[in-house]
Amino acid sequence: MKNNSGNIDAAGHVTGRSTYVDDIPVMEGVLFVKVFDSPNAHGKIKSIDFSAAEQMEGIVKIFSCKDVPGENQIGGIIPDEPLLADGEVHFQGQPILLIVAENEDAAEEAIKAIKIDIEPLPVITDPREAFKQGKLLSVSRKFVKGDTGNAFTKCKYIFEGRTESGGQEQLYLETQGAYAYPIEHNSVKIFSSTQGPTQVQRTVARVLGLGMNKVEVDVPRLGGGFGGKEDQASAWGAMAAMTAWILKRPAKCIPHRMEDMRMTGKRNPYSSDYKIGLDEGYNIMAYEATFYQNGGAAADLSPAILERTLFHATNSYHVPNVNVTAHSCKTNLPPNTAFRGFGGPQGMFVIEAAIDHAARSLGIDTTLIQRKNMMDNGDEFPYGQIVTECEAKHCWDEVVNAYDIEAIKKEVNTFNQQNTFHKKGLSMMPVCFGISFTNTMMNQARALVHVYSDGSVGVSTGAVEMGQGVNSKMIQVAAKCFGIAAERIKLESTNTTRVANTSPSAASSTADLNGKALLDACDQIKERLFSFIKTELTGNEEERVEIKEEVVYINDEASVFNWKNLIQQAFIKRINLSAKGHYATPYIYYDKTTEKGHPFAYHVYGTALTIVTVDCIRGTYEIDEVDVVHDFGTSINRDVDLGQCEGGIVQGIGWMTMEEVVYNENGKLLSNALSTYKIPDIYAVPKKINVHFLNTDGSDLAIFKSKAVGEPPLMYGIGAYFAIRNAVLAFNAKASVPYEAPITPEKVLMGLYGN
Ligand code: MTE
Ligand code: HPA
Ligand code: MOS
Repeated sequence: MKNNSGNIDAAGHVTGRSTYVDDIPVMEGVLFVKVFDSPNAHGKIKSIDFSAAEQMEGIVKIFSCKDVPGENQIGGIIPDEPLLADGEVHFQGQPILLIVAENEDAAEEAIKAIKIDIEPLPVITDPREAFKQGKLLSVSRKFVKGDTGNAFTKCKYIFEGRTESGGQEQLYLETQGAYAYPIEHNSVKIFSSTQGPTQVQRTVARVLGLGMNKVEVDVPRLGGGFGGKEDQASAWGAMAAMTAWILKRPAKCIPHRMEDMRMTGKRNPYSSDYKIGLDEGYNIMAYEATFYQNGGAAADLSPAILERTLFHATNSYHVPNVNVTAHSCKTNLPPNTAFRGFGGPQGMFVIEAAIDHAARSLGIDTTLIQRKNMMDNGDEFPYGQIVTECEAKHCWDEVVNAYDIEAIKKEVNTFNQQNTFHKKGLSMMPVCFGISFTNTMMNQARALVHVYSDGSVGVSTGAVEMGQGVNSKMIQVAAKCFGIAAERIKLESTNTTRVANTSPSAASSTADLNGKALLDACDQIKERLFSFIKTELTGNEEERVEIKEEVVYINDEASVFNWKNLIQQAFIKRINLSAKGHYATPYIYYDKTTEKGHPFAYHVYGTALTIVTVDCIRGTYEIDEVDVVHDFGTSINRDVDLGQCEGGIVQGIGWMTMEEVVYNENGKLLSNALSTYKIPDIYAVPKKINVHFLNTDGSDLAIFKSKAVGEPPLMYGIGAYFAIRNAVLAFNAKASVPYEAPITPEKVLMGLYGN
């Protein structure tokens, strides 16, 4: 890896050498854990008989909720989710028993011999129905700014409507899973595919009734998480750990793809109502929305996701009067959870639909309302934070200029005049995304740095590498701070005994939080080295010392010292070459009682132009081009950041167009494999993705002013929905295209010929 680009994992990934949980060499006597899960979405367990199964060859033990040594509870925010069902089941796929076997085949055979009698209870899959019945997972939330009631009386135009956005399967390449073994002192060590090592540690400690100090979690890397392993890795960690700890043998618990899809939660589907009011100059004067979040059967992260929906309800727009409410509705689906954007995309889709609705009805260009109402410095977000370092208009205008949108609009019109059965559509999608965990407490991190006596460096942080390139960025931070080559630095696995009390790697904040903590640690060591040079080597306290490309400069002149011999000298003189760094984001706070505060360190801005072509005979479509101007601040790793941008865009397009999570009325997942759940492949991705780096000053709260990039680009994908919708309406102005995503080819086809 060069000091300013690339991903240190690239070679390992393409040669298949990177190690994931299932690649870790196992110890002799390893046990395999399979989950027996609920066939019903809601019901009372009348009886369960696994006596025959337990006698089968290769079966070591079958655990039920009664065998849980500590608390049978894995709920992270709200304690409402048992590890193993106790008396009742609340979704299809809910774990009931653990089958522990000498090999997987034996466990699978045993599952077939288990008899269960469940008395069915009513199944709810629709969040609005759950709301009607008062089934909520957490308290409802409301953000209010100004007075919408009064503002609406003065609006010239008012539009109301309803939107739906679907779920999304994280589909990390590596499924969930953990490998655990007992260690001395009644303790257990777990290798887990988790974004939240501490969350796994905390959950295992609770389930086993141990102190957290007896539970060690180690994470080499993830084959993707996308939010799906922020909280939901804990159950698999607990299943492996409980088995290992009770039976005193190593144990592996790794679901197959279809089991993972069936048993784990996905992006929360939302059903929403909106009302938007404009004055005669098309200024948005008032916006109201009610969000019905489909939370599934347990709270999981849904209350936090709900909150972020409200934070992003007005996207990049300045709206003087806002009143938005969100309900987390309890249904009989697997507990839904984090997915890139964390409720933000669901909130943004609704206001984009409202603006589109207004523009269509008024017969004006949607972009006119969008640009006119774009926020700027000094405006106030509905949650009280003042807009600063705003790049919203900057990004938008840069798209208009750099990609010559007027020429593109003309091309699209000409194409549509000349073609009857193919129509093109375009859309603009601005994004403003807040960076920080919305829960202020979580915005902290730590790092541990050892400089070894030979000058090599070992770095541990709380950051989990899941493909987003955070390890590469951490190496860059240490290399830059010490003035040494990246090759000298080794990034260690993420381990709870080296770096404790970590926040999950999430909220796009991993590089900022852990990078700043790492910088703190490196700075401490550097300070000690510099003061050692001044006091012991040169004897002159006044000197200016620097290390550049491993050479020690004293008052701008290269000295006889380089990194390697400096470290040797320092070690001989017993200088401490290790340090622990800590960082807590300054300035941020939030008051939930007033729903006002300054929750975000900063915001990331951008705009995407999307152009599509719809085949109006088949209903199929192609994404011709996505042209983006994105605010990276001062990117420290353009390769990684570009990759995050492209990946996010494609994942967002997938959510909005082709990925359709389908449950039947009994709560059974129908899109339960890759044959029925379609994600973008090489044919579905945009033919061109252009990403223009807007080099802004960047925030001081971003690591080296390189802004967080993990989630914001996903929301550019929302533009694909509107571009396709516009193309359909170009074919048939009377077409019926409700604001329902995903806009699959089937829906397009039905829309094209409807009215
Ligand atoms: N990129 C890859 N390749 N794999 C992932 O799992 N997760 C996304 C994003 N990009 C993900 C990814 C999500 S949901 C988040 S929150 C961020 O990365 C987390 O990493 P960061 O905080 O370092 O940006
Ligand atoms: N983003 C992502 N993950 C989270 C958050 C958030 O704001 N809060 C808690 N987990
Ligand atoms: Mo990302 S959804 O914050 O893991």
